[in-house]
Amino acid sequence: MKFSRIASTGGYLPEKILTNADLERMVDTTDAWIRERTGIEKRHVALDGQTTVDLAEQAARQALADGGFSPGDIDLIVFATTTPDRVFPSCACLLQQRLDIHGCAAFDIQAVCTGFVYALSVADKFIRTGAARRALVIGAETLSRIVDWSDRSTCVLFGDGAGAVVLEASDEAGILSSHLHADGQYESLLTVPAGVSDHPERLRAGDAFIEMKGNEVFKMAVNTLGRIVDETLDASGLDKSAIDWLVPHQANTRIIAATARKLDLPMERVVVTVDRHGNTSAASIPLALDVAVRDGRIRRGDMLLMEAFGGGFTWGSVLVRF
Ligand code: COA
Repeated sequence: MKFSRIASTGGYLPEKILTNADLERMVDTTDAWIRERTGIEKRHVALDGQTTVDLAEQAARQALADGGFSPGDIDLIVFATTTPDRVFPSCACLLQQRLDIHGCAAFDIQAVCTGFVYALSVADKFIRTGAARRALVIGAETLSRIVDWSDRSTCVLFGDGAGAVVLEASDEAGILSSHLHADGQYESLLTVPAGVSDHPERLRAGDAFIEMKGNEVFKMAVNTLGRIVDETLDASGLDKSAIDWLVPHQANTRIIAATARKLDLPMERVVVTVDRHGNTSAASIPLALDVAVRDGRIRRGDMLLMEAFGGGFTWGSVLVRF
């Protein structure tokens, strides 16, 4: 068993929906501005007390059920999130306990919006080396907790949700290649500038929110994602015509469309959920994948390109034969 493949998927969105019309009542914005600049129409937000692990548990149980797995079949949990329930234990350990799994390795990954791409890549390497046979890989967020709901330039963008896949050892290639990058010199363009150790007083005062220089992030995202498309195709020796589906991180339809153009891929071959989900950070790719698998667009054997860009900056891609 030299490879890993995605055996099943799951997703979960909290029931509460915030529409652009709701936001018009909260900040100085319009539905037209949000749609035109971002493509977003609505987003889901967690209820008070509903945590990242609550959302992840639903997505994980769906992925397990979908593949006909029981929790005991899992021997690795990799959990991507920027909004963990607690400082510790990790979300991976909290989820492990909810699923009544005991003893296997379980840890969180923090790569902001690129988190799921990082998590999938790491889990793939565990499986390829024989250190694990069947991994639960999660991306889950309650970004609403770090959004300043009085800041119109950021609050319209984000949402909450969770996505999961079961990744298992296989004789045939599923994950064909993964490409991970980061450059910390851009940390100030997209950040929550407070935490447990840096400006803890802001955290304690409830003043730790996403700050973003949107325009600069936008330009960097478009350029960087263009480069990662080239890198991924070069590494695999594939022509862009081999890609059946682009499953991108869902930040903004204009960023997604720019990557699709780079691939000469019509928008009908791009999975877009940002209109309904907003930007759910690490959850956005597994949620989009789950939507398109469930509605029958993505089928076994299809070639998928997943790509993401996020705070750090971090960016990456995974090429998958589904
Ligand atoms: N409603 C109405 N007006 C708004 C607004 C809102 N929600 N948010 C910002 N504006 C205003 C600004 O104040 C600015 O007004 P001014 O010209 O009077 O100063 C104007 O709209 C243009 O702002 P700008 O930031 O230049 O807009 P933009 O075209 O870059 O779009 C984003 C803003 C955030 C949608 C866009 O920059 C973006 O998508 N950036 C990337 C975000 C992202 O993907 N982040 C996560 C990466 S994982």
